Amino acid sequence: MRRYALRKTIRNIDLAAELGASVYVAWGGREGAESGAAKDVRTALDRLKEAFDLLGEYVEQQGYDLRFAIEPKPNEPRGDILLPTVGHALAFINELEHPDRVGLNPEVGHEQMAGLNFPHGIAQALWHGKLFHIDLNGQSGIKYDQDLRFGAGDLRQAFWLVDLLESAGYEGPKHFDFKPPRTEDFDGVWASAAACMRNYLLLAERSRAFRADPEVQAALAASRLPELAVRTAEDGLAGLLADRTAFEEFDVEAAAARGMAFEQLDQLALEHLLGAR
Ligand code: CO
Ligand code: CO
Repeated sequence: MRRYALRKTIRNIDLAAELGASVYVAWGGREGAESGAAKDVRTALDRLKEAFDLLGEYVEQQGYDLRFAIEPKPNEPRGDILLPTVGHALAFINELEHPDRVGLNPEVGHEQMAGLNFPHGIAQALWHGKLFHIDLNGQSGIKYDQDLRFGAGDLRQAFWLVDLLESAGYEGPKHFDFKPPRTEDFDGVWASAAACMRNYLLLAERSRAFRADPEVQAALAASRLPELAVRTAEDGLAGLLADRTAFEEFDVEAAAARGMAFEQLDQLALEHLLGAR
C-alpha cells in the first residue's frame, strides 16, 4: 500500500511538473490514528520522513523546479492527524534530507480548529522562510473544518492576516480553499468565489488605511512597538553579565505604573476594520 501510494504520488509529481506547477501541496489527511496503540507515532514519522526524502530525491533527479508545501491539519478525517499544526510541520521539515525543498501551505481554518492564532502561525512560517503557499478561508472557532469563504468566520484574524501578508511582502500564491455551501445554485457558487477575492482586497485596503493613520502611528509609538526591534544585549553575553546597572536601573514601581496603550491601538484597528475611519 505504501509503495503504491508513493508511486502514485510520483506520477502526480510528473503531471504537476508537466503542467508547470511550482508548488506541490501535500495534505496528509490519511496519516493519523483514532486509538493509542493503532500507530507508533515515532515510527510513522520515520515513514513520513522516508517518503518526503524519496520524493525530494526524485524531484532533484528529474531536475524539476518544484517545491513541496505541507498542509497541517489537527483532525478530520482522522481522529488525530500527524503534523497537526504549523509548528509541528516546521519542526518535521528540519529533519528531512532536502529541507530546502519543503515548506508549508497553512490553511486558516485548520489552525483555528486547533484554537491557534493563524496570523501568528503565518508570521513564524514567514520568519523561517517556509511560507510556500497559503489556503485562505473562514472558520468559526474549534469545530469541524468549515471551509467558509474568506472573511466569514473570524474576521479580526482575517484582517491581521492580510495586514501581515501585505506588510511582509509575501509574493507566493494566495489560494482560496473554501467550499460554497450546498444551499447555493451556480450563481451563488460564483458569488462566494468572487466574495473571497473582494474580501481580501477590502481587508488590504483597510490595512493600508490603518497603517497610514497618524493616530495609529502615535498609538504604535505609545505602545512602544519600535523598542522590540532593539537588541536586548548589543554588547553580547559578556556585556550583559558585566552590566551591574541592569538591576539598579530597572524601576519596578515605574514599570508597574506605566500603561502600554494596547487597548487604544486595538480599538483603532477595530474602527478601521468596521469602516468607521
Ligand atoms: Co479546510
Ligand atoms: Co486546504
